[in-house]
Amino acid sequence: MTTPLLRALAAGRGLTIGAAVDAAALRDDARYRALLAREFNGVTPENALKFAPLRPRRDRFDFAEAEAIVAFAAAHGMRVRGHALAWHRALPDWLTAGGFGREELTAILREHIATVVGHFRGRVTAWDVVNEGLPVAHDPARAASVWLRGIGPAYLDLAFRWAHAADPGARLFYNDDGAEGGGAKAAAIDALVRGLLARGVPLHGVGLQGHVGLATAPDPGALAATLRGFAALGLATELTEVDVRLQGGNGTPEERLTAQAGVYRDLGLAACAAPRRAGLTVWGVTDRHSWIPGHTGRPDAPLLFDAGYAPKPAYAALREALRG
Ligand code: XIL
Repeated sequence: MTTPLLRALAAGRGLTIGAAVDAAALRDDARYRALLAREFNGVTPENALKFAPLRPRRDRFDFAEAEAIVAFAAAHGMRVRGHALAWHRALPDWLTAGGFGREELTAILREHIATVVGHFRGRVTAWDVVNEGLPVAHDPARAASVWLRGIGPAYLDLAFRWAHAADPGARLFYNDDGAEGGGAKAAAIDALVRGLLARGVPLHGVGLQGHVGLATAPDPGALAATLRGFAALGLATELTEVDVRLQGGNGTPEERLTAQAGVYRDLGLAACAAPRRAGLTVWGVTDRHSWIPGHTGRPDAPLLFDAGYAPKPAYAALREALRG
């Protein structure tokens, strides 16, 4: 092969190009493993490091699935992003229905972060410490978060401090959605992270999820300005969960794949151009593994490789962006 693969181009630019990994596909599908190792130099466990799968009971941690992903990454020279320590979703019933008071919830989150970050110390090099921590109108579950309601806004400071204590070498991120193109959400994140920094909280970066669509792709200039704004605070930035849905777009299937490729190119260029850039992670390896059809209830094809594992126009476009 004469054209360098995605991961070689990324490495040449000092970037991580990652993919969210499905633990079952990694275990069962040799083609999936081969494609993942060939093209990507980073992984994020898609679900295996969330609270519920890790912690079926308060007194039991189950690291087996996450360990398999982390071991695969180590064997193939890939970085691991840990996702996510404090999130309002993927929580077990024993926690959400436990009737715990403030002190006990604080103890539960503290023991969770200390145990999980400590377990993967030195092997998981970046963590989404808090995910989707701001209240938003379109998802009332965030304001009702057991952490926010049960502990109070101080849980953010605490979560970062506990994570830093458990692995002082890990890069700690605040991760959220809907802010790629600037606007009110980006301003709210900006205010939040300025507060964390002013209080001396160990925060190193902001992750922008990047779940976008043909009709909702961020304006490239606005995205660049958003990334620059966080960099000006001394923070790394990363596009952490990129997918580009076709639904809602116009044109023939071919035209929509071409438009999708254009969005991937813009996102790749933005990731390369950003000061203090850290990388871009796609939220799944192939269209067969994307969460979008299940989440939206509509078929879609938002990733770089199709359901038959063949590269799409989006793949070529991202490669071009990385070639610079
Ligand atoms: C999604 C996973 O992709 C699905 O498999 C799971 O059923 C639900 O969560 N924002 C996030 C991710 O931060 O953790 C979510 O991942 C997608 C939206």
